[in-house]
Amino acid sequence: MSSAQVYLDGHFLPLTEARVSVEDRGFLFGDGVYEVLRASAGRLYEEEAHWRRLASSCREVALTLPEGLPAGGLRALALELLARNGLGEGEATVYLQLTRGAAPRTHHFPPPGTRPTLYLSAAAFAPPWEARTRGVQAITLPDVRWSRCNIKSINLLPNTLAKQRAREAGAAEAVFVRDGVLTEGASTTVFAVLDGALVTHPNGPHILPGVTRDVVLALARAAGIPVHERPLRLEEREHFDELFVASTTLDLAPVVALDGQPVGAGRPGPVTRALQQAFYAAQGVTPPTLG
Ligand SMILES: Cc1ncc(COP(=O)(O)O)c(C=O)c1O
Repeated sequence: MSSAQVYLDGHFLPLTEARVSVEDRGFLFGDGVYEVLRASAGRLYEEEAHWRRLASSCREVALTLPEGLPAGGLRALALELLARNGLGEGEATVYLQLTRGAAPRTHHFPPPGTRPTLYLSAAAFAPPWEARTRGVQAITLPDVRWSRCNIKSINLLPNTLAKQRAREAGAAEAVFVRDGVLTEGASTTVFAVLDGALVTHPNGPHILPGVTRDVVLALARAAGIPVHERPLRLEEREHFDELFVASTTLDLAPVVALDGQPVGAGRPGPVTRALQQAFYAAQGVTPPTLG
């Protein structure tokens, strides 16, 4: 079997030959940002929103893309990478990471002219239909992250620790709670349905501005579902009729139990289902029976 192809520092090459310096600031400091895009049949989903968020992350941490990207920029690189990996059909993900490059270790920025490290990989993706249709369990955990969660930074230690805790609890997601407020999942946006209205945390420093979040909010508004972007308090939990999490790879997945207790009726609810139907209708995708 031929090796997967990746893009690193200006070249496409086999994954097995890709090397990054041990002085790379991504390795030493987690000094970098990333994006995960989804591709269907060679088309990037909501790509403009992903490029905008990447630009915003870069601005926030004063990172710039390396000079000399091909015409067409990141989009062209992502599409070329999909094609080189035979992923022009079916479902795939594209991972993109940009770090401040390799330089002798100092906390402050490296000398001007240090070339940022740009890495892209692509992989076939099996859509998680079971989670989307049957729903998942989630746990809550204290949100111990910093106050710049709007940056899609590669510093993901709180997120990886939380996911591991969830896994050990037999759950698929950990929902962070900051000062009594549900902020977001370790890799998802969190939505609740209360009295027929959709509630999610406002964008700002405590959550990542999810690409899927915007899609879901637009679909809800178009369907006439009242939308409230406001802090969602854990103490309101008894009034959650429905809860779901959303992301680029998950789409929308009902949360049927939180911390081992059923949410609402303990099964995917009607508002979640309506939004899932609208989501797939907008993409022209026929999902397996959502139930
Ligand atoms: C912390 C966090 N929140 C939310 C999301 C969902 O964002 P998106 O819909 O852009 O994938 C992600 C995705 O990875 C995430 O890591």
